[in-house]
Amino acid sequence: MTRKLHVKSFGCQMNVYDSNRMADVLAPAGFSETAQPGEADLIILNTCNIREKAAEKLYSELGRLRELKQAAALEGRQILIAVAGCVAQAEGREIVRRAPTVDLVVGSQNYHRLPDLLARAARGEKPIDIEFPSDDKFAALPGASREVTRKRGISAFVTVQEGCDKFCTFCVVPYTRGVEISRPVEQIAGEVTQLAQVGVREVTLIGQNVNAYHGAGPDGREWPLGQLLHRLADVPGLLRLRYTTSHPGDMDDSLIAAHRDLPALMPYVHLPVQSGSDRMLEAMNRKHTRRDYLKVVDRLRAARGDLAFTSDFIVGFPGETEADFHDTLTLVDEVGFAGAYTFAYSPRPGTPAADMPSQVPEAEKSARLQRLQALITRHQRDFNASFVGRRLDILLEKPGRLAGQLVGRSPYLQSVQVMAPTSLIGEVVEVTITEIGTNTLFGALALPAAAPVFAEAGA
Ligand code: SAH
Ligand code: SF4
Ligand code: F3S
Repeated sequence: MTRKLHVKSFGCQMNVYDSNRMADVLAPAGFSETAQPGEADLIILNTCNIREKAAEKLYSELGRLRELKQAAALEGRQILIAVAGCVAQAEGREIVRRAPTVDLVVGSQNYHRLPDLLARAARGEKPIDIEFPSDDKFAALPGASREVTRKRGISAFVTVQEGCDKFCTFCVVPYTRGVEISRPVEQIAGEVTQLAQVGVREVTLIGQNVNAYHGAGPDGREWPLGQLLHRLADVPGLLRLRYTTSHPGDMDDSLIAAHRDLPALMPYVHLPVQSGSDRMLEAMNRKHTRRDYLKVVDRLRAARGDLAFTSDFIVGFPGETEADFHDTLTLVDEVGFAGAYTFAYSPRPGTPAADMPSQVPEAEKSARLQRLQALITRHQRDFNASFVGRRLDILLEKPGRLAGQLVGRSPYLQSVQVMAPTSLIGEVVEVTITEIGTNTLFGALALPAAAPVFAEAGA
């Protein structure tokens, strides 16, 4: 029986990866994906709990889906609605209580049990599976590897570690994803090899704390991320490697050396710092100082001079003064980020910072957010502008909006649009950057330099 599945991701890259994994798990049960929720037999909302706004999106979406479900029922068609992800993990049964339209709830460690949960939901039960920790959380499919059952694009995510033991005082991740655990090297290599076989050319290794990776290697030892990257660089067909998200405290020598030694490892690091103020870093329990952070940036730049950095920032953490905020602004200038995500602090129930005194008023948070964003936008524009007239290696990923146009990524993760034939999708080509837009670079295929006529004359 063929059935249609619609999965919607609300969260981080791991959330997107998990959505793909759910589709992989359900493919053998006859499910194929559709982009139209209206024609789906099963709709999965893969939720995020990181900030209040992210969590609230679930309930507004469920309101819309209730109408869709009722309309389908009038036509005699059943639509099942599942809630997965970090809100599912945190709220469990509460979701069904608040939104009875939901047929099943599955936590972030239990996606391999979806076929069974679905069968129960179809019988009218409302299964809630948020067992946590799940002893077999990496055993998505038989053989303990994650079979890639569907075609992917050119660039794909692969989870290498999950969870976090850092307990930053603002963050829900240690509660929704559990303690830090790493996948074995050969399991990851197997998945990456399968992805390369279905046409993937770039893999981004993901984890809440990806550089804390310490998976079992084939030699029985624990391998650090740098060593894993070396192993994956040998996978046939794979052109590019990336990893995200890193913690400054876990940037070890093996990873820094990998940036020096591995041409396939892209010269780009997303390294969240959150604040430039030591007082705030301490209150956030980040376990590093401003100076530690700058030292890590220097060591990485010494290994690879053209490394670009992006980061995450939180403004308005409890107790943040204008002076603390000013330290964040000066850090941005000191590092010269190629871009960053900026967030107003959002109190999350159950985290220590939510109960801290001196919460910053919303108006102040948004004013600081705007100032920080303006500064980062300026740095981002300067960074992008520095490439005008220069050549960049672009991995072409998919057709662009205009006819004849392709979109790809630079080594620094910039999106680049270029006129090129679709036969070049999946290839790395040299592009001369001609212009910069707000979020994109524009360029033209660089013609290969003419071969010197005397090349074959013999030397
Ligand atoms: N594991 C990563 C990222 C975790 S979540 C890390 O350690 O950096 C992604 C980003 O969301 C964080 O870096 C932080 O900037 C932001 N964030 C997390 N909790 C938040 C909160 N309660 N309020 C505002 N922003 C938050
Ligand atoms: Fe959250 Fe901190 Fe862990 Fe990142 S390191 S996931 S911000 S607790
Ligand atoms: Fe959100 Fe969960 Fe990712 S809370 S950011 S989906 S780990």
